[in-house]
Amino acid sequence: MDKNFFITTPIYYPSGKPHMGHAYSSIIADFFARFKKIDGFDVLFLTGTDEHGLKIQRAAEKEGVKPQTLCDQISETFRDLSKILNLSNNDFIRTTEIRHKKSVQYLWNELVKNDEIYLSKYSGWYSVSDEAFYNEDEIEEVDGKKIAISSKSPVEWIEEESYFFKLSKWEKPLLDYYENNPDFISPGSRKNEVISFVKSGLKDLSVSRKTFSWGIPVPNNQSHVIYVWLDALTNYLSALNYPNTKNDLFKKFWPASLHLIGKDILRFHAVYWPAFLLASKIELPNKVFGHGWILSGEEKMSKSKGNILDPIEIIKEYGLDPLRYYLIKEVSFGNDGNISQERLENCINSDLANNYGNLCQRVTAFTNKNCDGKIPLEIKFQEDDLLILNKYKDNLDKIRSKIDDQNINFYIDYIVNSLFEANKYFNDQEPWKQKGNKIRLNTIVYTTLEIVRKISFLLYPIIPESALKALKIFNIDENDVKLNTISNNEYLTKGNNLNKIDILFKKKDKNND
Ligand code: ME8
Ligand code: MG
Repeated sequence: MDKNFFITTPIYYPSGKPHMGHAYSSIIADFFARFKKIDGFDVLFLTGTDEHGLKIQRAAEKEGVKPQTLCDQISETFRDLSKILNLSNNDFIRTTEIRHKKSVQYLWNELVKNDEIYLSKYSGWYSVSDEAFYNEDEIEEVDGKKIAISSKSPVEWIEEESYFFKLSKWEKPLLDYYENNPDFISPGSRKNEVISFVKSGLKDLSVSRKTFSWGIPVPNNQSHVIYVWLDALTNYLSALNYPNTKNDLFKKFWPASLHLIGKDILRFHAVYWPAFLLASKIELPNKVFGHGWILSGEEKMSKSKGNILDPIEIIKEYGLDPLRYYLIKEVSFGNDGNISQERLENCINSDLANNYGNLCQRVTAFTNKNCDGKIPLEIKFQEDDLLILNKYKDNLDKIRSKIDDQNINFYIDYIVNSLFEANKYFNDQEPWKQKGNKIRLNTIVYTTLEIVRKISFLLYPIIPESALKALKIFNIDENDVKLNTISNNEYLTKGNNLNKIDILFKKKDKNND
């Protein structure tokens, strides 16, 4: 079986500093990357910044700096954010890097060689904010201004000489591809949008611009720069050292397992990208998942609207893991969601502090008092114990397959239920009443400690730092976190001392700050 997993986030525009929407995509990608890693996969997790095009050039003009200067500054804040979010990304690509420019120009030449590109003249609507061309039926007029219906961003009329990619000829092959690979576009509702867009007819795509210079030059015609989306999408290949397809990275990780993106950029990933790849005879990625938006009020949170929430502010106030937990639990994956401080506080107080933190505290305190602070030596499982322990083993394959379907909602529900059951088990078994029956007391303690371990393994992809803090009680460190060991009900070494546990989560007292 192929045990390699390549996951990507969109590469973000450094036209403004990162906001909660970017943090969301990155955290979700990190969740999948970490899950696959503990499940024994070799994982490549890629993120980065998309630095060319008119949007960036104009943002730089507005600041009165060179585009490269703006990109250097803001790209750094995205890189910093990936550290603040505790992302496990292995690479951070910038499209202004040489390695990337070389890949893009190579790909361009491949398209030319395959007779997929021709020179003509473009006239039509263009949104600089989306870096996208729109058909007449995709725009509307509001207050005398033309805007794109889907994104509400202003469009301008452009007319210029342009190279075109023969997108129209890929209409049928794309539709066939969607049909033969029903999981290629997820979730299903989004797939239908894409299919009807393609069925409505694809026009050839303008893939170069002539009226500004901030981009990768078209090989052999320096008066054009390559369309920023053709440039940007190629990052998924350039990070693997394309066109060197014989190198280990490319051989191991292409085709990508999962392009995780927001639904705003589905058309680029599910139509243009596979068409570019088909046209250059490169294998297509396994899946594109378009998640929903973090809203601000009723609207999409976005740089251009200025309605943004800074993830760093939230992290300062509540901590990183509570934010990660919130985004995974409270934003139903695939749908839009919003940030409510009240629900965030509720996650901290109820799920994290009460159900998880308290379980860890209680069982370690009880072990210290009644088992000399050691993992009990002599135990004898009864039916009740095995019933709860074996559930983890019995559900493991189901959890894996739900993750392969990006069913995060199942995963988090499973954890919430497991925490509830674990607390109930400890209460119902009443180990404090078993002081005359040492083996029974030991077994309840051992079982509960095992459950804490198993749940902490499952929580690791969501709240890595806190889960590792909890696992420190058993001297388990990051390299030991392996999903398949969840099936082992006697993983914990009997007789070992438990380490002291740090407070995992501080409750938020509403009247106290
Ligand atoms: O589109 N809710 O970059 P971008 C959820 N450079 N996710 C959001 C979001 C929100 N309100 N706002 C942004 C680009 N995102 C291109 C991508 S890829 C080859 C090139 C996330 O800075 C989401 O993943 O506009 C969305 O697709 C992406 O950021 C867009 O970031
Ligand atoms: Mg955008």
